[in-house]
Amino acid sequence: MPLVTTTEMFKKAYDGGYAVGAFNVNNMEIIQGITEAAGELKAPVILQVSKGARAYANHTYLVKLVEAAVQLNPEIPICLHLDHGDTFELCKSCIDGGFTSVMIDASSKPFEENIALTRQVVEYAHDHGVVVEAELGTLAGVEDEVSVEADKAMYTHPEEVVEFATRTGCDSLAIAIGTSHGAYKFKPGTKPQLRFDVLEECSKQLPGFPIVLHGSSSVPQEFVKIINENGGNMPGAIGIPEEQLRQAARSAVCKINIDSDIRLAMTAVIRKYFNDHPDHFDPRQYLKPARQAVHDMVAHKIVNVLGCDGKA
Ligand code: G3H
Ligand code: 13P
Ligand code: ZN
Repeated sequence: MPLVTTTEMFKKAYDGGYAVGAFNVNNMEIIQGITEAAGELKAPVILQVSKGARAYANHTYLVKLVEAAVQLNPEIPICLHLDHGDTFELCKSCIDGGFTSVMIDASSKPFEENIALTRQVVEYAHDHGVVVEAELGTLAGVEDEVSVEADKAMYTHPEEVVEFATRTGCDSLAIAIGTSHGAYKFKPGTKPQLRFDVLEECSKQLPGFPIVLHGSSSVPQEFVKIINENGGNMPGAIGIPEEQLRQAARSAVCKINIDSDIRLAMTAVIRKYFNDHPDHFDPRQYLKPARQAVHDMVAHKIVNVLGCDGKA
């Protein structure tokens, strides 16, 4: 099947009490690792491209690599999504360039400006058969060139979500309930806890509407350990506990974003490989196990966190 939007995926996920994984892609090995796992497990999947990924790999390379993955995995629905689009022009460029979904992230702007920019993107996207994710509330952490300090991060106000969704016409909504971007989500020694009360209140206000969670890597400690044992230095890297993500996936959350765990999986394998084989210098020798690590991590998420295996 050709690239799809998230419309059908989210409807099935909402009704079925699971979530679709949205994994960030930057190169061929990452795209292969993710889609091979999704294909084997018959799981729908979202491949998302950030502004930084586009700058790194080039729009055309990424689209062509994703097209290859679609051709090689004809039995699963695959969506190509712009992650954290920050301007109308960037969203338009991705819509014109073959993406089936875009995110306009105007969450750092005042409410009315967020609505106006989101509305502008929605009108253009819907005219072109593309769906739009928007965001209300601010996550802590680093998104592309935007860095948000933890104390400036704000949970989404549930009383704003109906007006926002109605006036913008967005197709899904990212909310802030305590997740954050990157590998350092909580201070060591504190208890990681998502605000399920905020999630529940938002979904009560918007029955049937797909909610999105950004910043949802769980920062597996086995990867952090391998990195630190092989010349890395990532003390205090902590993510979202998997059981909390599983709980979110059973609710109105239909899309769960994961990028840092891909980075950690690849970095752990490559660091160890270099330590174990100081004489090797063929990139295929270390990119092969790195790709396998992405595959295994994604397969684990699909089965144990998202619950979307067999849902293609
Ligand atoms: O939310 C941010 C994603 O992890 C993408 O990161 O902008 O460094 O590609 P990036
Ligand atoms: P993580 O940094 O937790 O992987 O979040 C990724 C993300 O939200 C991409 O938009
Ligand atoms: Zn994000």
